[in-house]
Amino acid sequence: MFALLTFIAVGNAIAIAPVARRDTPASGPRERLSLNSGWRFKRWTTSPDDVSYSKLKSWVLPSANDFIKDTAKQFRRPSSEPANVTFTQPDFDDKSWEQVDVPHDWAVKGPFYSGANAVVGGGMGRLPIQGVAWYRRSVSIEAADAGKSVFLDIDGAMSYAMVWLNGRFVGGWPYGYASFRLDLTPYARVGSNQLAIRLDNAVDSSRFYPGAGIYRNVWLTKVSPQHVAYDGTWITTKSVSGQSAALDMTTTVENAALAGNTSEIEVSTDIYVWDSASGESSTKVGQFSTARISLSPGSKQTVNSTATVQNPRLWGPKPSQQPNLYVAVTRLRIGEQVVDEYRTRFGIRTVQYAADGIKVNGQRVYIQGVNQHHDLGSLGAAFNVRAAERQLEMLQDMGCNAVRTSHNPPSRELLDIADELGILMLDEIFDTWNSRKVRNDFHLIFPDWYEADLRSFIRRDRNHPSVVVWSFGNEVAEQRGGNGDATARRLRDIVREEDPTRQTTVGMNNAGPNDAFTGVVDIIGLNYQGEGRGSGAATFPDFRAKFPSKMIFSTESSSGISTRGTYIFPVSGASSVTVSDSQGGDPRNRYVSAYELYAVSWGASPDKVFAAQDRYPYVAGEYVWTGWDYIGEPTPYDLSRSSYFGIIDLAGFPKDRFYLYQARWNPTVRMAHILPHWNWPNRTGETTPVHVFSAADQAELFLNGVSQGVQKKAQYTYRFRWDKVVYQPGELRVVTYKGGSPWANATVRTTGEASQLRAATYRDRQSIKADGSDLSFVSISVCDQKGDVVPQSATTVSFSVQGPGEIVTTDNGDPTDMVPFPSPERKAFGGLALAIVRAKKGSTGKITVTATAKGLQPAEVVLEIANNVT
Ligand code: GAL
Repeated sequence: MFALLTFIAVGNAIAIAPVARRDTPASGPRERLSLNSGWRFKRWTTSPDDVSYSKLKSWVLPSANDFIKDTAKQFRRPSSEPANVTFTQPDFDDKSWEQVDVPHDWAVKGPFYSGANAVVGGGMGRLPIQGVAWYRRSVSIEAADAGKSVFLDIDGAMSYAMVWLNGRFVGGWPYGYASFRLDLTPYARVGSNQLAIRLDNAVDSSRFYPGAGIYRNVWLTKVSPQHVAYDGTWITTKSVSGQSAALDMTTTVENAALAGNTSEIEVSTDIYVWDSASGESSTKVGQFSTARISLSPGSKQTVNSTATVQNPRLWGPKPSQQPNLYVAVTRLRIGEQVVDEYRTRFGIRTVQYAADGIKVNGQRVYIQGVNQHHDLGSLGAAFNVRAAERQLEMLQDMGCNAVRTSHNPPSRELLDIADELGILMLDEIFDTWNSRKVRNDFHLIFPDWYEADLRSFIRRDRNHPSVVVWSFGNEVAEQRGGNGDATARRLRDIVREEDPTRQTTVGMNNAGPNDAFTGVVDIIGLNYQGEGRGSGAATFPDFRAKFPSKMIFSTESSSGISTRGTYIFPVSGASSVTVSDSQGGDPRNRYVSAYELYAVSWGASPDKVFAAQDRYPYVAGEYVWTGWDYIGEPTPYDLSRSSYFGIIDLAGFPKDRFYLYQARWNPTVRMAHILPHWNWPNRTGETTPVHVFSAADQAELFLNGVSQGVQKKAQYTYRFRWDKVVYQPGELRVVTYKGGSPWANATVRTTGEASQLRAATYRDRQSIKADGSDLSFVSISVCDQKGDVVPQSATTVSFSVQGPGEIVTTDNGDPTDMVPFPSPERKAFGGLALAIVRAKKGSTGKITVTATAKGLQPAEVVLEIANNVT
């Protein structure tokens, strides 16, 4: 009502009186403005309003229309408008609400719920994700924007997002992992516009921590009504032969004007080398064929074009290949005027999916992958480029070359980082279909939303060269019986329509070789089945016999569990053991032994998985469950708050397993890693096995100079182990050889009492940007006088900063630690603690981070704020 007094909404173009001609293109190319700052936020555990997704569903569903192929099935917005909601009104006073910037995760600051019947239990991380929240901010539209289309682009909001502008309902998108665009144009006016977003998270909506809030970036796109559609370009490598590459491109052009003349549009695209140092396009190396189209108001058209690039620099995974990138700049011209300019980063590469594995640019790449959930440890789900980049860098150090985004679409930026680092991505969208895993999960909306979610996901991600496999499900209940294969076929066919160049998979823990379901997917993706789960269950050869030409890999392997630096006795002599309270696990403190032999009942130790892979070399590789620990799913101790599965703990400290994988995956690293630590005052005279992880083939262990024997790695064994070592304090030393030559040596000593703290920027840089987002990861080690880390220290470390910085969170990787993540005080765990530090936006100078602990010499680290502040 009010809005009509001050502005006139004219179809899909903003107008001010006097009304601009609706078919007049705005001048200048598009603007993409960050809407990340300046929000007001409030959350309630019970709904404060009279709205809900089910009440407004008829108004929300039309937001999916661009992604529903059969136009007869698209949704029509009801002719009536939903009732007014106070929180959406421009004159609502939100000054008492919290001021926040996004990406924002309202739950991660805690407090943690404790106890057996908590509102949010271990599975979802014991954090307060539940409830309804509203976010409000104003959006300014300039007079010069008259005649433009204005879009709100939300990269991720958890969940059931519904959006109002100036009190009027715009649309929404329920799936919390989806990125989506809403057209604000009909509701916008020149001047200040009130944006209001409602989110709603139920308890029991996920098997793991989903996060809560607008946890990814938000953008305002202002563009001529004649523009490249949302995620509207797609570039593929048709062939690479000799010294040139043939590329195909489709560009979807939209004319959002609702009336006026047909527009005559020229579509041209130039190709540039992407300069990774500057993040810019540099040398022009080619162009796509130019097209001319006539586009009537309210219509869309897809243009096909081709290009040849001479001497292409191919994109390939590290370390065997290089991740070279290009950028295509598409320009739409009406007459002489450029009305839109749109950039698409891409890579030139070929992928073949063969019975014996994946080939990138003709070269077989063994998949040394991990599964990763989307949370970033103590930062929660709120996406942060540096935290995500660091996760992938550490995995790469270990020799990891592939990641499965279990079990949901990642942020856009994660795929950008994977493109730049040269990591092969398995991009996965769903954990459930029609059948539920927990009572409020995605199955509630699957029937209405699967098509739009799947098509928008593929269109969003298909230009990333890192993405080599699509997964449209994980361990769905539909694997066996019912109409599971029909649903699988429907989803697979959608993927093929959107992208016939890549193969599909589903993580199957249950479907056997003879189930109809298994035949539907292109790649046989096995969760734990490959290495064998006992009792006659199918293994790799059974699937190979049935599908001789399909690629096979382990979408999930191992599910080994451990708590960093914690060793529990006695140690099993077997090479893979199911964890229990009496084997590997300690129910009193809820820790699991880091001898790295223990796994969940459906899993296996890394060693057992490696042996299966070596026996069946046609297998394309594995994705270990998981690379990093994540919030939630603390199997086997539900009272804890975070997982035990990670090779790296929640704070980013490697567990012993890191070195077991590194030895196999990155075998040129001259490394030998000894476990356990050697501080066992109560074990003198007791058997205390010693294991060593190394790429060496022979090793000799010495305890206080006395040889404990020479070990050679036998076939299908992946560690050196001395199971009969009798503990005495002192020094363990291992000397290793490879091919008869000295390889690497390592020493572990019994330490003295803790006397000092040591600070370092842990696997990170000491210079950070003051852009409001960049981070530094400062680690503290509790050390004795010699500087050796005291492995059982649990002293409380207090962090403080001087200068223009702040401590964002702290952590120690202990899955049982219930102190909220933002606390500046953190107990050391296994002698280590971490603080994540950010520079205040726009600041300059230095930040001193100080760590103190009672009775110990304090430590500090000085961070420089880089000059190239943005
Ligand atoms: C799998 C599941 C994963 C995770 C894992 C833990 O069955 O797909 O999401 O729960 O088990 O072992």
